[in-house]
Amino acid sequence: MTYEHLILERVDGVAIVTLNRPAVLNALNLALLRDLDHAVAELRSDDRIRAVILTGAGEKAFVAGADIKELAELTPVAGKAYAAEGQRIFDQIEHLGKPVIAAVNGYALGGGCELAMACTMRIAADTAKFGQPEIKLGILPGFGGTQRLPRLVGKGRAMELILTGATIDAAEAYRIGLVNRVVPAAALMTEARALAATLAASAPVALKVTLEAINRGLDESLADGCVLEATLFGLVASTDDMREGTRAFVEKRKATFTGR
Ligand code: COA
Repeated sequence: MTYEHLILERVDGVAIVTLNRPAVLNALNLALLRDLDHAVAELRSDDRIRAVILTGAGEKAFVAGADIKELAELTPVAGKAYAAEGQRIFDQIEHLGKPVIAAVNGYALGGGCELAMACTMRIAADTAKFGQPEIKLGILPGFGGTQRLPRLVGKGRAMELILTGATIDAAEAYRIGLVNRVVPAAALMTEARALAATLAASAPVALKVTLEAINRGLDESLADGCVLEATLFGLVASTDDMREGTRAFVEKRKATFTGR
């Protein structure tokens, strides 16, 4: 598959997806969203890929939001369809069944912040900046921001960020729990690759069901989430990897997982 606006590389079980419209700070236009949709589908069905890194081209931006030139043309009906389509693609990322690390290398504004939040974890360069500035354009976040931001940082902080449209730096994003860690910009991809390699070496089925337990469980009551967890626990108990992981511990050696 060839892509117009993104670069897809595969290295040792890890895919690196680079959103590539640096002249407009990797703003998400429909063509880039389509590329992203196809790349996610491609990675979902590629069993060799066990972890994904998502980043932006250039040094300035991860993604500076939805493409404002396209937004400006939306009618009410098209606006609803546009938001629903972005949400669907970001849901596909959240529920890819493999961990997706956002390596946030600069501005993550609007749809960029929403995209980072749809990822499993976020590593920020110390130069990164985050925000949901939609209010300044007379709109609200449309790709899941009003829902994922409060789940990540709490209602009060999400209200403040979304209602003021303020931009925060990486240190503040770390303080409020929006990102998992902050690293020097020059070390961003090395750190992201190291984390991805650790995840890629884990038992794939256990990874997949853990993602499902946390992502789906958070939308359930505690009791229903625990039922889901117990069911998935029963499922992994049927895997070769469970036998291998427990046997390797007893035999004091490193486990080799096959994903079966
Ligand atoms: N959509 C479309 N184009 C965008 C864009 C977006 N979200 N963000 C940046 N660009 C374009 C700019 O129009 C500019 O293009 P030009 O060179 O043809 O004029 C180019 O990217 C560089 O951006 P510029 O604004 O010149 O860079 P800057 O360093 O002065 O400012 C930002 C950087 C991120 C603060 C600023 O670009 C900005 O506020 N972007 C919009 C952020 C936003 O509101 N996102 C939410 C959208 S819902």
